[in-house]
Amino acid sequence: MMAQYFELTEQYDDALVLFQNGDFYQTYCEAAEEVARRLELTLTKREDSTGTYRMAGIPVDNAASYVEGLLDAGYRVAIAEQVEDAEAASGLVDRAVTRIVTPGTVVDDELLGAGTTNYVAAVAADEDGDSWGVAAVDVSTGESLVTGVDSRERAVEELERVAPSEVLTGPDAALDPDELDWEPMLTDHDPAVFASERARETVAAYVPNPDAVVAGDAELRATGAVLAYAEYTQGDDGPLAYVSRITRYDPREYLRLDATAVRSLELFETRGHSAGEPLVSVLEDTASALGRRLLHRWLRRPLVDEAAIEARLDAVEAWTRRGVDREAVRDLLSEVYDVERLVGRVSRGRANARDLRSLKETLDVVPGVKTAMGEVDAERLRNLRDALDELEDVRDLIGRAIQPDPPVEVTEGGVVRAGFDDELDDLRTTEREGREWVADLEARERERTGIDSLSVGHNQVHGYYIEVTKPNLDRVPDDYTRRQTLKNAERYYTPELKRREDEILGAAERADSLEYELFREVRDDVAAETDRLQSVADALAELDVLTTLAAVAVDHDYVRPTVGAADISIRGGRHPVVEQTRESFVPNDADFTDADVAVVTGPNMSGKSTYMRQVALICVLAQVGGFVPADAADLPVLDRVFTRVGASDDIAGGQSTFMREMAELTDILHNATEDSLILLDEVGRGTSTTDGLAIAWATTEFVDDEVGATTLFATHYHELTAIADEREAVRNLHFTASREDGDVTFLHRVAEGASSSSYGVEVAALAGVPEAVVERSRTLIEEGVPVQREDGRTTLDDFRGVAGGGGATVPDSPPGATNGRAGGGDDETAVNDASDRLTARGDADPPDETLREVAAELREVDVADTTPLEALNLLNDLRTRLDDRDS
Ligand SMILES: Nc1ncnc2c1ncn2[C@@H]1O[C@H](COP(=O)(O)OP(=O)(O)OP(=O)(O)O)[C@@H](O)[C@H]1O
Ligand SMILES: [Mg+2]
Repeated sequence: MMAQYFELTEQYDDALVLFQNGDFYQTYCEAAEEVARRLELTLTKREDSTGTYRMAGIPVDNAASYVEGLLDAGYRVAIAEQVEDAEAASGLVDRAVTRIVTPGTVVDDELLGAGTTNYVAAVAADEDGDSWGVAAVDVSTGESLVTGVDSRERAVEELERVAPSEVLTGPDAALDPDELDWEPMLTDHDPAVFASERARETVAAYVPNPDAVVAGDAELRATGAVLAYAEYTQGDDGPLAYVSRITRYDPREYLRLDATAVRSLELFETRGHSAGEPLVSVLEDTASALGRRLLHRWLRRPLVDEAAIEARLDAVEAWTRRGVDREAVRDLLSEVYDVERLVGRVSRGRANARDLRSLKETLDVVPGVKTAMGEVDAERLRNLRDALDELEDVRDLIGRAIQPDPPVEVTEGGVVRAGFDDELDDLRTTEREGREWVADLEARERERTGIDSLSVGHNQVHGYYIEVTKPNLDRVPDDYTRRQTLKNAERYYTPELKRREDEILGAAERADSLEYELFREVRDDVAAETDRLQSVADALAELDVLTTLAAVAVDHDYVRPTVGAADISIRGGRHPVVEQTRESFVPNDADFTDADVAVVTGPNMSGKSTYMRQVALICVLAQVGGFVPADAADLPVLDRVFTRVGASDDIAGGQSTFMREMAELTDILHNATEDSLILLDEVGRGTSTTDGLAIAWATTEFVDDEVGATTLFATHYHELTAIADEREAVRNLHFTASREDGDVTFLHRVAEGASSSSYGVEVAALAGVPEAVVERSRTLIEEGVPVQREDGRTTLDDFRGVAGGGGATVPDSPPGATNGRAGGGDDETAVNDASDRLTARGDADPPDETLREVAAELREVDVADTTPLEALNLLNDLRTRLDDRDS
């Protein structure tokens, strides 16, 4: 046995082999130590003629949670099952790896969340590296995707969007975990599966003509590889029948949301410590797991095709108008099981009788759903209604064949209904009659022998017996044969009882195996309808999402957006998530018909970030095909949404906060187009004020001149608001707060113009910063702010110097003002003569000559053609010049 184990561990050397031995999956030696440590199991020992081995086992019946623990710890798990009946086997029971469980290829419901997707992906590139294929499969449902892009960067970005939990890295497309924004398992599988010819063969087993589905060699190789790997993990020699559709998509068919945008808009999860909810939780009230999965897909890939968006909106609108039908459909859909996964199991031959019943119960709702849809008028819904095949044949088959509440085990009978198969019925009749005969035996024998205490019983070892207590032994008839002696009684059988017993057992045994056979036939018949079942699953899923979007629209007062406008124009827009968490939410307009760039200022906590995100979320929701939280919304079709939000460190990835910020900015300035929406929530905060403001200023100019994207730029650099005076397409928006008796009230209302104060100290007080610090800050503000000296240090002397100088308050600088730190020239002077500095601040002077030069130079930069190193050098140069100017 150990030889068999070692052979398997060698064969599956990149996996942890779980070796079935009866009721346990065992691991031995080093693996046992690992497993015992990871799963907190007791380490035991096995001794046989070949030696002593450390051993740790997992109960077969309850393996899922342990396997999950192993996956979490980064293992692939190879399940080696006994493939021979232990009793039937002569000598050693044969074992084989029946499947390999890896993060990307898990199929067990226990290990996958309900209604989630779980992809394994593969990446391949052609020789020049200018054509890349990315393919992904959800092995639990059979969903299969492929796309092609033209650079490694785009391939990574596509991967990021698919967010597979495992990636096969091809021989020509090794990935570095550091360049990825999430943490998939990187699997180095047999490179042969990536070879063109092999890949073509693999794919051809799924679609008749691979070239009609995938474009080009890189896509073919990625697709072939990922499918071959999926087959390998499922222990199949052939294709996975339920992977019946390979969907090729072009990333340009969707609104591009890269991982940064998905994260900062909090579509699927909130960032870091944020206590709120992601967008999806507001929408996620889908009736079924199918709907939930599709909703996530739609949200990850909003549309850009106007007609397709309108078609969804039409359908959603139709449902908003018919509340009763909508709720009827949603009620019915809540009875629906996860057909996608069920079909996967049926097709893999792993479905049990309950799964088949679940499938039937799902199909049972279809006629009702179609009826409820009858009056709801939208083209998309008519199409869906037509696509809803009632699959009466399958329903009928399962209904006739499978018991309503069958056991989980399919080999032990109780699965197939009476009346389905004559032979089975005969066997059952024989069995039943035999049992009835036995049941009556007690009464008959009591009468025949006159022994009132005589009883008939059954046990596992001896089978049926007639029990007579010791005092009555003299009355035992001649045809009784002794079977077993107890303390107070003897047990007997008669030739007839023995014959009947054999008959019952024989019939039961044959019935069980016949049932299993029949069950498998039914399962195979159902599996043959995979395509039709998947179409029904798709239609139900879409119906679920459309009715859910309608229900959300009605519940939360959303409106239908107009898509295809030239510019964003939102009246009374709300943040879909924040409005759910606040007692009252202040709606705000966003109108970009006259200006492309809005510089948003306002105190801390006043609502800038919320406002910017709500604009983006409204656009995203509209392109998903949903109604939006606003009074009215005219929206363009965006090609991409970019975000640069807050400071996120990536020290592990080798980037400082500021470097990271600049890398994000680079990406935006390179890739945004006229049709993009850009949210810049603070830029340049991670460096000195001077550099930061210069970059912010130059960025705004660049966006206006070169990019033309709709841009919202939130900033605490009040100086930046001056740029609106210079430029037609830039306007200022601001939030206000009112201060009474030292308490700040935030109005959360956006208005034209620039804001004048930050209330940073008030917010600090609200947050619980120690009173002493708050008070000291207030004093400093009243008496003068710290000023950076030439050498870059700020000392207490400076404070005193400033404090001694003058009494003006700093935050209330008028729009367009520039303070001493940012543009006012000689800081040293400011330190020594605060009143000068404060006067200079009062002049509504735009940034000085040097700043202008710097800005002009920045504007000259061909960002698309600048390497990071050149950018750093330039930055350094600009910085030096600013420093020179200041000294
Ligand atoms: N329109 C609104 N109506 C009601 N409450 C709002 C509104 N906008 C924002 N808020 C509340 O105010 C809080 C702060 O908002 P937000 O984070 O947008 O402020 P901010 O101006 O970006 O602040 P900071 O400058 O510190 O980044 C939000 O968490 C939210 O609870
Ligand atoms: Mg903010």
